[in-house]
Amino acid sequence: MSFLDKKTRKYIKEYRWSNVFAMIRNNRKDPEKCGLDSKGKLVVITGATSGIGYVTARNYAQRGADLLCINRSMEKSEALKNEIEKEFHVRCYYLLADLSSLEQTHRAADQLLDLNRNIDVLIHNAGVYLTKKELTSDGIEKVFMVHYLSSFIINYKLKNMLKAQGKARIIYVNSEGHRFAAWGLRLDDLNWEKRRYSGLKSYGSAKLAQLLTMLIFDDYFKGSGVTINAMHPGAVKTDTGQENGILYKWFKRNILDKSLRPVEISAEALYYLGVSPEVENISGKFFNLTTLEEPTPPALDREVAEQLWEISLKMGKLK
Ligand SMILES: NC(=O)c1ccc[n+]([C@@H]2O[C@H](COP(=O)([O-])OP(=O)(O)OC[C@H]3O[C@@H](n4cnc5c(N)ncnc54)[C@H](OP(=O)(O)O)[C@@H]3O)[C@@H](O)[C@H]2O)c1
Repeated sequence: MSFLDKKTRKYIKEYRWSNVFAMIRNNRKDPEKCGLDSKGKLVVITGATSGIGYVTARNYAQRGADLLCINRSMEKSEALKNEIEKEFHVRCYYLLADLSSLEQTHRAADQLLDLNRNIDVLIHNAGVYLTKKELTSDGIEKVFMVHYLSSFIINYKLKNMLKAQGKARIIYVNSEGHRFAAWGLRLDDLNWEKRRYSGLKSYGSAKLAQLLTMLIFDDYFKGSGVTINAMHPGAVKTDTGQENGILYKWFKRNILDKSLRPVEISAEALYYLGVSPEVENISGKFFNLTTLEEPTPPALDREVAEQLWEISLKMGKLK
């Protein structure tokens, strides 16, 4: 029996209907709210120029946090900085990085290492949804790079510094979409050369990859005061998917958007997970908004997580 068949059989045995029902129930819930302010904190957010990242940046700033946004657009970053500093009287710094580039991701991580200030909350939010396969200039499938590998590189390079700080919260804006990679991560085909590419499956794989190496980062941070968690931000209305063709955009605007919730719930949840004392000691977990939830069996597979860790070190040019 091949490794893949063995894994599929293992996952089938581990799947529980009760987890699916829990997800359906949790999808209807509102997030917990945190009434504390964030004065004096520094919050790093990737992809703060639109959607969930933008509303989350405003929410933290409104409650007193300074921001450091990692964005790819200079024009949008300047507009964001001006808007936030004028409205909330906090600092809104930014770094420019296209997170589909290995070199630019490394540069952003190095700039974070050079900060003379502790990072209180690090939110990996940037993402893309592509219906057609694209390769980055480094030859890596783009969805995997932007969602997963870039956040892996940043965490890996920052991990000693964050541990030395003694306190920090890392949050992945993950997704219930990790369930689309129902039979696990294909470590032998991360670039989709052997299989037919699909937007849902590539998205699911990238989010699943985040959940897997989160387990290893969590081991590393145990007892240090640093936590790392992932969350589903709700199915909310944003401009995601604008890179795709007119058919997808029509479907999104006329069908999908009608069932989506307001993006403010994602920002509220990301604030709670970043600040509330209730989650101070929770790490290595998956939340649906602010409700703890069990991810799929493939997301809890430590054997695959360890293999992915090694592959990510090589792919991310960290070795
Ligand atoms: N919306 C939902 O219902 C939903 C559900 C589950 C999970 N999520 C997750 O939530 C996160 C945010 O999604 P969203 O819905 O808010 O989408 P969005 O409105 O399209 O925002 C995506 C953000 O990521 C940035 N970004 C994209 N590619 C980048 C790159 N190569 N380098 C640097 N930044 C890049 C975008 O920058 P530009 O402004 O320059 O385009 C934008 O700021 C994603 O990780 C997504 O998977 C969303």
